[in-house]
Amino acid sequence: MATASDRLPAATGTRPATVVILDFGAQYSQLIARRVREANVYSEILPHDTPWEEIAKRDPVAIVLTGGPESTLAPDALGIDPQVYAAGVPLLGICYGMQLIARDLGGKLVRSEHREFGAAILEHTASPLFGDAPVKSRAWMSHGDTVVAPPAGFETIASTARCAVAAIGDAARKIYGVQFHPEVVHTEIGARVIANFLHDVAGIAPNWKMESFVESMIARIKAQVGDGKVICALSGGVDSAVAATLVARAIGEQLTCVYVDTGLMRANESDGVIAAFRDILHLNVRVIHARERFLERLAGIEDPEEKRVRIGHEFIAIFEEQARTLDDVGFLVQGTLYPDVIESKTPDSKAGHKIKSHHNVGGLPEKMALKLVEPLRTLFKDEVREVGRVLGLPPTIVERQPFPGPGLAVRVLGEVTAERVETVRAADKIVTDEIEAATLDPRPWQYFAVLTPLRSVGVMGDGRTYANLVAVRAITSEDGMTADWARLPHELMERISTRIVNEVRGVNRVAYDITSKPPATVEWE
Ligand code: XMP
Repeated sequence: MATASDRLPAATGTRPATVVILDFGAQYSQLIARRVREANVYSEILPHDTPWEEIAKRDPVAIVLTGGPESTLAPDALGIDPQVYAAGVPLLGICYGMQLIARDLGGKLVRSEHREFGAAILEHTASPLFGDAPVKSRAWMSHGDTVVAPPAGFETIASTARCAVAAIGDAARKIYGVQFHPEVVHTEIGARVIANFLHDVAGIAPNWKMESFVESMIARIKAQVGDGKVICALSGGVDSAVAATLVARAIGEQLTCVYVDTGLMRANESDGVIAAFRDILHLNVRVIHARERFLERLAGIEDPEEKRVRIGHEFIAIFEEQARTLDDVGFLVQGTLYPDVIESKTPDSKAGHKIKSHHNVGGLPEKMALKLVEPLRTLFKDEVREVGRVLGLPPTIVERQPFPGPGLAVRVLGEVTAERVETVRAADKIVTDEIEAATLDPRPWQYFAVLTPLRSVGVMGDGRTYANLVAVRAITSEDGMTADWARLPHELMERISTRIVNEVRGVNRVAYDITSKPPATVEWE
């Protein structure tokens, strides 16, 4: 299967100085790539057994071997192409990577009786790898096997109470190994060790910036697409907006974007994003108003999964219709991110080659024989936001809250009708406006209203009501994977509740969701 670099060829002279990270399936491989970039150096992750010829195509200025879940002492232990050692490129092995260096170059390892997990006090001797980092600091350890004697030419340059050989180095050959994990935040001098390796040991200038990424990516997209035609589905989210803008900067009018207005977006959202796409990003956007089509497909459907499937299919059908009206489309832009690409836990599946289709355009590339343009394949979410800022995307897009692909349809529990969508949209606007106007610390990460199918008895004026229950959800979270309910001030909750009951027709009761994730999810459907 093609790698990202095969699809996006390097344009002459534009490839940044690249550090290759050879992945052994470490939990933390992506974090290592990220730390390298934070040291202003570009990196790419490749599977551990990538042949030297493939690695050499990247012209690596340094190579990092990651940790991994296995033992280097096992008969079928994962290894690297021996030419990596012979190439003379500065090398840093982390955990499994250090043990492999020790094993392959003639050091001695043992299976430890005491496995070491968690924080330890690391003490180092003078070496370019540690530079002027504090001699004693806390470091994160996680290993079973231990190096007991480094290979010839190497010195032991750090230790902990339970691990006599916690770092090794051969300054002449510029090969280093660390038993601890410099990439995790619990290792106090971790970022410094990685920066020292890159800048002082390998001599790489810290000049990789998002601006450099943007420039080199534009050149690579030009080289990949040539004079071909490209389509892109815009969702309103940051990933597709950034991907489309990069492609548009590279090939301009050859790109057609399609924005499907499902009628399931939040208040004023479609108008806002369309205006931003056209007037600020200067994208060539076709807007398809498809509210009626989606409502028809959703009529009578109450099951949440069935709703999601129907919305997904309708979206693809519309996108496909649009694509067919364009002659000779050869490429499809997708906003795939690095975490979607790397499968770090299973090295034998060749980390880096798995492609996760985006739910909204899944299946289209094969069906229409489209080649993928994935300019964000090597980036993390917050790096994508940074690229967005460099490209001049407005905060409404760069800082947009996560919003589910199926939109308000999964925030109307039970059947989705035009009226019920309007109800949840009106309630959602009040929640959003009030929370955004408040001074909150911490700020909730996501907040919205849910229209439940419950009705309850109320009294308004002197009359009895029997009307809908709206739930308000506000959460704190890092990434949406886990979440806690936000402790909003009571006065703010009171304002939200009073306004919803007074301003949204058909609602007479408001509840606040006080469940974390897990056990609940963020969305109710
Ligand atoms: P859950 O409900 O799974 O949500 O706890 C976690 C985060 O993902 C968002 N979400 C989606 N995002 N397409 C998306 O792009 C979807 O279908 C989807 N469903 C949920 C949700 O808003 C939360 O931030």
